[in-house]
Amino acid sequence: MNFDLDLVVRSFPLLLTGAGITIQITVLSVSFGLLIGMFVGIARLSSCWPVKLLARAYVDFIRGTPLLVQIFIIYFALPMIVGTRIDPFIAAITACSINSGAYVAEIFRAGIQSIDRGQMEAGRSLGMTWGQTMRYIIMPQAFKRIIPPLGNEFIAMLKDSSLVSVIGFEELTRRGQLIIARTYGSFEIWLSVAFIYLIMTFTISRLVDYLERRYKTDDKH
Ligand code: ARG
Repeated sequence: MNFDLDLVVRSFPLLLTGAGITIQITVLSVSFGLLIGMFVGIARLSSCWPVKLLARAYVDFIRGTPLLVQIFIIYFALPMIVGTRIDPFIAAITACSINSGAYVAEIFRAGIQSIDRGQMEAGRSLGMTWGQTMRYIIMPQAFKRIIPPLGNEFIAMLKDSSLVSVIGFEELTRRGQLIIARTYGSFEIWLSVAFIYLIMTFTISRLVDYLERRYKTDDKH
């Protein structure tokens, strides 16, 4: 078989705009995921058992079911309850954010738990409240440690966002499928799609390496 380079060149602009949409979904989902994850991660450590139970149920449900099924639930099952169709973009962002939130929650929980408990005791003995100690002492230290796993989450979400192509949302993978439906160039297009994902994930991992070095201190905590 011969490689149709011309097809790759012609399709590239369309694939690149698809990649832009993939980045949009990822950035939005991980940002909302960070917000959800921070609260749920702290809730997982709460001494109030209903809060703890609820946070745990959320994390267990999300991690215990495939993202693909969660996307189907939000796009196809939820409209039966709310009575209106949900825009694929909103459905995609909602599903990915809720999903990412559970993974980020575990990252935050582990990060917070890795900080010596003496830090909390020190803060409290200085007269700070639990919330103040969390915000000004624990979180800044935990944050440095969770940069690498957060980077992993970002990369994982970038790749897993390809699942939203099943609801017809036109991100990179879906763009590839649509071009192939017109041109039959499976080989050229899937290789190009893979290449674009690779460039994006590679860039993120270099960025995470940089952040890790930048925030590295010689403290042991
Ligand atoms: N592939 C896994 C799933 O289907 C994880 C998806 C989400 N990944 C993530 N890092 N948020 O459930």
